[in-house]
Amino acid sequence: MKIAILLFLVATSAFAAEEKTFTPPAERDIPKNEFGDAVRLGKSIFTDTQHFAKKYVGNGLNCSNCHLDSGRMADSAPLWGAYVRYPAYRAKTKQVNTFEERLQGCFEYSMNGTAPKSGTPELTALVSYAYWMSTGAPVNTKLKGAGFPKLNKPELAPDYARGQKVFTANCQICHGSNGEGIKVAGKFAFPPLWGKESFNWGAGLHRIDTAAGFIKGNMPLAKGGTLTDQESWDVATFVMSHDRPADPRAKTGIAAAKKDFHEENCKYGETVEGHVLGE
Ligand code: HEC
Ligand code: HEC
Repeated sequence: MKIAILLFLVATSAFAAEEKTFTPPAERDIPKNEFGDAVRLGKSIFTDTQHFAKKYVGNGLNCSNCHLDSGRMADSAPLWGAYVRYPAYRAKTKQVNTFEERLQGCFEYSMNGTAPKSGTPELTALVSYAYWMSTGAPVNTKLKGAGFPKLNKPELAPDYARGQKVFTANCQICHGSNGEGIKVAGKFAFPPLWGKESFNWGAGLHRIDTAAGFIKGNMPLAKGGTLTDQESWDVATFVMSHDRPADPRAKTGIAAAKKDFHEENCKYGETVEGHVLGE
């Protein structure tokens, strides 16, 4: 009997621990010293990459366009969920990467730019911001809310035409009828989903499964969780059936890069509406 009660307590407390999302420190608690200055600069770079890390950026995006609420939001690959899990082995690079290397990858692919070298003020500031965000978090563990949600395989094969309908009804108003985003006073108020100002074919978000999870969790903005899984897969397929900047890894052509780096359901290298994606 005693053992049963004990087991019950252990089980419920483990469950409670798993259910709680980590809360990063409040912005007003950034220390007022040299370290705090680096943290604040990191936050500025993260939310206005266009301005604060301009020379490393080759598109119209900011880090926080995909890592929402300045990298705080659960299920939007928050910085506090990331920092404590590096160094880590990554299938993409087939090696153990440091946190700095992970950030450099985002510049090359998600920002379609060039990676700031280790030790540059920009990279150091971003690391400081992420380190501060994870103050008090347990290390070497996947916190609840870390990464983007993973969706189960859809019931029906994801479909371009159904996705187009979802896009017209739920996304176009903010992201534009051609996915080009909307600029106000020369700056994107609503970021582009495809085209030359968007992330490139090497970015994590171009993967349809990753995009479906991001969309399900976060889009339409402030209405995350309202689309069905099927709608999320369909609209992700539609978005990723449009062209975007070249895959920097495609040194010997699209066919080779498709084989080496892309999933079988990825539209890269396929002909959609008369155009070969990736060209
Ligand atoms: C176009 C969307 C997009 C933009 C812009 C973007 N990222 Fe990411 N980021 C992603 C995706 C997708 C992942 C991969 C998540 C996964 O592996 O499932 C990721 C992963 C990360 C990770 C690791 C997260 C983890 O939990 O392991 C960090 C850290 C990160 N990004 C930082 C940045 C920084 C810094 C910038 C700006 C310089 C940036 N990202 C810009 C989409 C983006
Ligand atoms: C109410 C306006 C609004 C609607 C509707 C909306 N989005 Fe977004 N979306 C945004 C904003 C704003 C961001 C950037 C978030 C930030 O910077 O905080 C964003 C970011 C994104 C991103 C990551 C950044 C990028 O440019 O790739 C994707 C992908 C995305 N939205 C897809 C969608 C899809 C698909 C739909 C429809 C299901 C949708 N959005 C509906 C406003 C919206």
